[in-house]
Amino acid sequence: MFICMGMASSLQLQLRLHPSTTRPFLRHRPIQCASDRQTLFNRIAPVYDTLNDLLSLGQHRIWKRMAVSWSGAKPGDCVLDICCGSGDLAFLLSHKVGSLGKVMGLDFSWEQLRIASSRQRSPSNPCYDNIEWVEGDALNLPFPDGSFDAITMGYGLRNVVDKRRALEEMRRVLKEGSKVSILDFNKTTQPPTAAIQEWMINNIVVPVASGYGLSEDYKYLSKSIKEFSTGKELEELALEVGFSTSTHYEISGGLMGNLVASR
Ligand SMILES: C[S@@+](CC[C@H](N)C(=O)[O-])C[C@H]1O[C@@H](n2cnc3c(N)ncnc32)[C@H](O)[C@@H]1O
Repeated sequence: MFICMGMASSLQLQLRLHPSTTRPFLRHRPIQCASDRQTLFNRIAPVYDTLNDLLSLGQHRIWKRMAVSWSGAKPGDCVLDICCGSGDLAFLLSHKVGSLGKVMGLDFSWEQLRIASSRQRSPSNPCYDNIEWVEGDALNLPFPDGSFDAITMGYGLRNVVDKRRALEEMRRVLKEGSKVSILDFNKTTQPPTAAIQEWMINNIVVPVASGYGLSEDYKYLSKSIKEFSTGKELEELALEVGFSTSTHYEISGGLMGNLVASR
């Protein structure tokens, strides 16, 4: 708790525009490296929440609640939400840890953090004083070892360029015995579920996103799920980087998955 409060004061929110966010975007260039992904998430930020609600029919709110619950966060804890985007999981964590707790929301997209910060200040979100937004890289977390009582990550692991490194960093900043809860699309091993997932992306997600001028961006989703790891592979990777336990839960008929690993 003490470490967390000290850290909070030394890492005050910096919403400075990173030079890479001003680069011109080449719309049809394949997403390959971290800066391409950063540009993508900056660009989709203004409509990201609306699309999440539309495309999941609001279900993402339930999945995020489950992820926060699996993290084991409790009142007074100091917790971290990595790849926080516009802040959904951080807001849920804020309620869990209460006024004596502290939430750090970290993302490398300045635009996403700007929206998270403005949502925090909105009158409809009256009680989120305990959240601090940090512009940073999931692969090089700006926190000392053993800082957090719980960590969440929603739809981030599939998007980082090095999953092993991201898990190593999560383990490093987690306290002994604490848990990380990682929600994402499930790379299913069941052909019918994979077919449904692919059909939904091609026939619902991409057409809806194209209404917002973002069809190319959302085509990336299908590829990123195919290149992601299965639940079993994620469990093994977590154990390889030193977590003591690791369990992957399938959600919504296997369309989504949540990895829970304890340090
Ligand atoms: C699909 S969004 C998820 C946002 C939010 N967690 C949610 O569930 O709504 C993925 C987020 O990961 C962030 N991200 C991807 N790679 C990152 C990295 N290496 N470091 C920090 N943030 C990263 C993106 O900027 C983006 O905001």
